[in-house]
Amino acid sequence: MQRLAPALREDNVPLDLISLIKTILAATKEISFRVSQAHLGGLMGSTLDENIQGEVQKKLDVVANELIKDILLESGFVRAISSEEEEHSVVGDENGKFIVSFDPLDGSSNIDINSLIGTIFSIHEARDDVPAGDAAQFQQAGTKQVCAGYVLYGPSTMLVMTTGKGTHFYVLDRTHGGFLLVERNVQVPKTTQEFAVNMSNQRFWQPPMQRYIQDLLAGDTGPRGKNFNMRWIAAMVGDIHRVLTRGGIFTYPADNKDPKKPFKLRLMYEANPMSFLIEQAGGLAVTSQERIMDIEPDDIHQRVEVIMGSEEEVNTCLSYYQ
Ligand code: AHG
Ligand code: MN
Ligand code: MN
Repeated sequence: MQRLAPALREDNVPLDLISLIKTILAATKEISFRVSQAHLGGLMGSTLDENIQGEVQKKLDVVANELIKDILLESGFVRAISSEEEEHSVVGDENGKFIVSFDPLDGSSNIDINSLIGTIFSIHEARDDVPAGDAAQFQQAGTKQVCAGYVLYGPSTMLVMTTGKGTHFYVLDRTHGGFLLVERNVQVPKTTQEFAVNMSNQRFWQPPMQRYIQDLLAGDTGPRGKNFNMRWIAAMVGDIHRVLTRGGIFTYPADNKDPKKPFKLRLMYEANPMSFLIEQAGGLAVTSQERIMDIEPDDIHQRVEVIMGSEEEVNTCLSYYQ
């Protein structure tokens, strides 16, 4: 099995980007260890703080954020970073060529139940026309990502990553501490009989999503003429990993539960990187209105509607909005 750096060089990924990727992965290896020891190391449960999203921070959210932030800021590779757990972007090295957006731990509600969690990251080139600390550094569409990926802290610690040349799976080999390529050019099956959505929000969705899910639930007695299965891990990393592995549709639709917050998932460090991975694997990633990666961001923490996965199923879902 091929090691990570040679696999990236084979894809002609520039050396400075490879160095940055290895830097992020060094932090994730440490996070993987801390996650495995959380109970023993006193890292279960919450802090007394809330993050900028108004969500209670888990101790591991804070630890993961500090590990990635420190290693990136010390590396010299990044001009600025932004994180789910940081209110504002943080300036790095003025000669850093890249900016990184990350969700240090996705699926925080799974920490205390010893279930799937992961780290999501998205890399853009830094803009030379605005200062490092300018908000405009991060006002770059998902189409401009040069790399996106996640590390899943599951039974295996897995890296799923794209640099725009397909989506590949790697596994952390603890015997030597490196990631090994286990599957090149993963493809999301075009059709599926599996969907992922938080059904408890059903009554708050817009009518087209209500009708679409209703027809899935009707199974072979309804207009779709086939039965569908449902899965919900409550960690986007886990749900998207399943979609990349065996297909499916994943959605976090708009809802009117809280009129001030119609969407749940964050564009810069959840929706965009996952969209890049899904599209590079032959799937689709959209809102009910547009391609996610075409959205011009105006805030590092902005939220967005998400519908992604198997191409035919995403198109079927979209047809309910026309
Ligand atoms: P985070 O733990 O980084 O705040 O993200 C959690 C997100 C996402 O991973 C998941 O798909 C979704 O929230 C789960 O939402 P529900 O609580 O509605 O299931
Ligand atoms: Mn998240
Ligand atoms: Mn998170």
